[in-house]
Amino acid sequence: MNKKWLLAILTTLVIAVLAACGTSKDDKETSGSAGEGSTDSKKTLIVGTSADYAPFEYVDTATSDEIIGFDIDLIKTIGDKLGYEIEVQNMDFNSLITALQAKKFDVVISGMTPTEERDKVVDFTIPYYETEQYLIFDKEKGYTTPADVAGGVVGAQVSSIQEDLAKVLGEEHGFKVESRNLIPELIQELKTGRFDAAVIENIVSENYLSKNDDLAAFPIEVEEPDYKSIVLQEGSELKAEFDKAIEELTADGTIEKLKKKWFVVE
Ligand code: ARG
Repeated sequence: MNKKWLLAILTTLVIAVLAACGTSKDDKETSGSAGEGSTDSKKTLIVGTSADYAPFEYVDTATSDEIIGFDIDLIKTIGDKLGYEIEVQNMDFNSLITALQAKKFDVVISGMTPTEERDKVVDFTIPYYETEQYLIFDKEKGYTTPADVAGGVVGAQVSSIQEDLAKVLGEEHGFKVESRNLIPELIQELKTGRFDAAVIENIVSENYLSKNDDLAAFPIEVEEPDYKSIVLQEGSELKAEFDKAIEELTADGTIEKLKKKWFVVE
């Protein structure tokens, strides 16, 4: 009789203790995610980029393995302004949109141009920069118009708007287009003579021109200007505050300052 009672009391106690643990844990999780009183813990945004695009996003391998550049400063500035911690992760340009759709990233910043096609599956902020395209080649070729590359091979980055542009020009002027995943690969192919030219945007081209005397380039005339925007998940709640932040950072000269810091030319 005594033993039975003892067992019953012990069982009740154990259940009570377990239940209490469960409750307190649940309580903590609920109040944590509600964000009340969480003054010290900033939300971290995981930011995807393709760090092959100096001076927008790249690794200066001589000094560190950190991803740096105009876009990285910009996203960190926006993070500071809006109270987010920023964690940057590298991925080939070609896979960024799919990864954003799969919610591997909260944000993508990668010098990306809003296009109708991309806009169907992700959201874009208002633009933070306007851009131009260059045809870049070995100086000795002496090209002055895309028509001069007739019969040759022109390189571009996989899934980029430069790849689309190169294909249109290739049809028009009779040259072949070959794509590579990373910008440094395009430059390499130019140097080995496998490519006769490549379509790369102005600021990125200028960066290579400033370091390679043997390269030359000219702007390609296009009808519509190209922009760069930050990329968000479709329907993202971040859109309104990001747009506002970009508007303010443009108006107060911060973006201008970042251009001066990172770009060889403007
Ligand atoms: N602006 C071009 C596009 O959106 C190229 C961007 C490439 N960016 C990069 N980090 N490689 O297609």
